[in-house]
Amino acid sequence: MAERVDMLFYFLCTVSTIVGLLISAAIIFFAVRYRQRPGDETKPYKGVGISHQDMQRMEVLWIGAPLVVFLIIFWWAAQIFAATQTPPDNAMQIYVVGKQWMWKTQHISGRREINELHVPVGQPVKLTMTSEDVIHSFYIPAFRVKTDVLPGRYTTLWFEATEVGEFHLFCAEYCGTKHSEMIGKVVVMEPKAFETWLGGGKGGSLAEAGEKEFTSLGCNTCHNDKDNARGPQLKGLFGKHVQLNGGHKVLVDESYLRESILDPAKKVVAGYQPIMPSYVAQLNEEKVIELIAYIRSLGASGKEPELAPTASASAAATAPEPGTGGAGGNQAEDGASADGGASADDKAAGGGKPTQGAGGAAAGDAAAGGQKPSKDTGKGGEGFAP
Ligand code: CUA
Repeated sequence: MAERVDMLFYFLCTVSTIVGLLISAAIIFFAVRYRQRPGDETKPYKGVGISHQDMQRMEVLWIGAPLVVFLIIFWWAAQIFAATQTPPDNAMQIYVVGKQWMWKTQHISGRREINELHVPVGQPVKLTMTSEDVIHSFYIPAFRVKTDVLPGRYTTLWFEATEVGEFHLFCAEYCGTKHSEMIGKVVVMEPKAFETWLGGGKGGSLAEAGEKEFTSLGCNTCHNDKDNARGPQLKGLFGKHVQLNGGHKVLVDESYLRESILDPAKKVVAGYQPIMPSYVAQLNEEKVIELIAYIRSLGASGKEPELAPTASASAAATAPEPGTGGAGGNQAEDGASADGGASADDKAAGGGKPTQGAGGAAAGDAAAGGQKPSKDTGKGGEGFAP
C-alpha cells in the first residue's frame, strides 16, 4: 500500500505547491501592478473595468477548476482507503491485544509475541485487534497503515509486506505515561524462515487452547450436537448469517462471537432462550480470542479448516491438496482459501481495484456493545511467556 499512499501524497504536495506558487505570484503581481502611486488618493475611484460576462467566466473557472481537482483527489483517495479496509480472502489471520503499554500478538499456530510481530514476505496479513484498557493505535509507518485499537470491539488492519527486514511498530494514540515506550518491531521474513519460526512456539494452536477453554467453562453443556441442545450448534457457523430473535440477521464474525460471549443476551439466535450467562468475569481478551479461534476452526459450511502449519503434530488438519504444503507463506486458517499458490497472484493484484463491500471491512463496528471485559482474571498473564 505504501506506493499508492505515497503517490497520492506526492500528488497532493505537487498540487498544493503549484496552487501556492500561483497565488503567491498573483499577490506579488497585483501588489506591484495596482500599487498606490503618488496622487492616487485624490483621484475618484473608477473600478477595474471587468465586464459582467468576464466576471461570470472567471466565477465558472474558479469554481470549476478546484472542483475537478478535489474530485480527482477524492476519487483517488477513496480507492486507496477502500483497499486498505478490504483484506484479501487469503489473508493470514493474526490477533493483536493492546494494553498499557505493550502489544501482544497471537498467531493462529499458538505462537505469541510481545512488542514484536513476525510475518512472511509477500503474504497478505490481517490483524484483528482489541484493547484491554484504553484506546491505542497500531501504526507501522513503513507500511503506511494505522488503525485505532479500541476496548470493547475488534478493529482490523491488513498489509502485505514486500520486503524482508525489520520495521518500526508504534502506538499512535496517546494512552498514558508510557505511551512513548509502547513501541515494537515488525519482522518480515522469507516464507520458509517464517514457517520455521512459527513452529518454534511451545504449546498448541490458538484453536486448541480455545477448545480447552470451551470445555473447562462448560460451554459444551449447551453448545453440542444434541437435538435438544440449549445453545446453537457452533459447527460450520463462522462466516454464515444467522437469524436472530426479532427477525434481524447477523453475520457470524469475530465481533459477533466476541459480543455473544461477553454479552450473550444482546443478539440471541432465533429459537433459543437468552439463558447464557456473560463470561466477562471469567475471560480476558486473549481467552476470548482463543475461543473465537476454536469456533472458527469448527469451520464454515461444515468444512474442516486448515490450521496454520505448526510443529505440534496434533495441531492441524492437513491441507486439502497434496503438494501445496511446502509452498510456504499461506496460512489460510479457515479452509475457504487453502490454496498454496494464492499469495503470488494476489501480490500482483495489489495495485488493482479494491473489491468493495467485502464483509470483513467494518467488522469491528458491529460489536459496539461497549462491554469491557475485566482485566486479567487470575491466570491471564501466564499465556504470554514470549
Ligand atoms: Cu498505546 Cu499510546
